[in-house]
Amino acid sequence: MPVTKVLTAGIGECDLRDIAVYRQRGGYVQLHRALTTMKSTDVLDAAEKSGLRGRGGAGFPTGKKWSFLPGQIPTRYLVCNCDEAEPGTFKDHMLLEETPHLVLEGILLGAYGIGSHHAFIYIRGEFKRGYEIFMKAVADARAAGFIGKNVLGTGYDLELTVHRGAGAYICGEETGLLNSLEGKRGEPRLKPPFPAIAGLYGMPTVVNNVETLAYLVPILANGPEWFSAVGTERSKGYKIISISGHVQKPGNYEVPLGTPVRELIEIAGGLFPGRTLAAIQPGGGSSACIFPENLDDPYDYESLAKAGSMLGSGAFLVLDDRTDFVQAAYNMVRFFAHESCGQCTPCREGGHWLETVLHRFVQGRGLHSDLEMLHRVSGTITGLNLCALGDSIEPFLKSVLKRFPEQFEARIQTVAV
Ligand SMILES: Cc1cc2nc3c(=O)[nH]c(=O)nc-3n(C[C@H](O)[C@H](O)[C@H](O)COP(=O)(O)O)c2cc1C
Ligand code: SF4
Repeated sequence: MPVTKVLTAGIGECDLRDIAVYRQRGGYVQLHRALTTMKSTDVLDAAEKSGLRGRGGAGFPTGKKWSFLPGQIPTRYLVCNCDEAEPGTFKDHMLLEETPHLVLEGILLGAYGIGSHHAFIYIRGEFKRGYEIFMKAVADARAAGFIGKNVLGTGYDLELTVHRGAGAYICGEETGLLNSLEGKRGEPRLKPPFPAIAGLYGMPTVVNNVETLAYLVPILANGPEWFSAVGTERSKGYKIISISGHVQKPGNYEVPLGTPVRELIEIAGGLFPGRTLAAIQPGGGSSACIFPENLDDPYDYESLAKAGSMLGSGAFLVLDDRTDFVQAAYNMVRFFAHESCGQCTPCREGGHWLETVLHRFVQGRGLHSDLEMLHRVSGTITGLNLCALGDSIEPFLKSVLKRFPEQFEARIQTVAV
């Protein structure tokens, strides 16, 4: 089984929340080494060479994203995205709670890598425990001289602001997050300009996911080649996959990218006895399903895109033959309709109407014309909105409507009322 322990090393074995324990295991050595022996551009080069891609959903190459920052503007910000609200995703708050110093060291390295003197972390409001654990880690790191003026006597100043969100999924979208950080409504911005040009308070900004930033620590410790040697041609390194649904041992599993889909199910204890696989939603609530014929596909960005889905945040939902796909599609659509910020008509209205129609099916009151409408409407929302939330409403519904039409047909009302 390809389960690996990189970011997850030591979790469950020792108390990594204790700064002394974290340091005994080599913690903060990379920060010290970077600040004393490396230029910030060396950190950027390492991120680029490693092939690390963003673990927050879009999979954008991290080093490349950093390189978009305009050189002539010295004020720039790093923002760590710990909003983690994608349905089925539970890796970032696990890292925050179990290994907060690794998350912190990753943020500090990222900030140094982009030449920033002020980093931010946006923590989902519901993560109270993670927030408290992280605040203690920040206090301990500050006392040890890793944050603040003249970090470790190197002359480099680095401030950190910890911000708690209030539980809106849309505040995970990077520009919604930046608005929220500025104290405005958490509504996505029109792009361009992208955050690299005009982000937080109008200044060049990089937004990176918790897991992305945490990987900077082992990448610097082992070298970018160590990371890029693992995975597939364009999907490099390791990834924490949040496996849930109809498996016997759901949980977070760290594996090399490219691990076959079948093995991910086996790692999580396999299906329940007597059950067969119906579908997998492989990349969070926003992704379309893949099916048993994809079991031997590698779990990587390219293969999942080829299969009509995506890797997203790495939330892997296994659905067996007892799944009610009408109810599942309704739940998924209802979530996105509820979380829509309402700025774009296709997202706001489309989500609402799909939810209304699907609710009729859930109650066994679907109409023949509804079925036709579901096919028609699901196809008029994607690509027409300000942000990717609008594009997230349809994929699951479309994929299960096509694959399991009989489940929808069975909910059509046959008796006139
Ligand atoms: C509706 C929506 C919600 C999102 N939520 C998150 C989130 O909770 N955490 C996250 O890291 N990225 C989230 N993203 C992606 C971010 O916009 C952004 O791409 C990411 O934080 C960049 O980090 P990365 O390059 O390290 O992946 C979300 C995107 C959308 C459209
Ligand atoms: S797509 Fe939806 S969530 Fe995104 S900005 Fe438009 S209305 Fe808001």
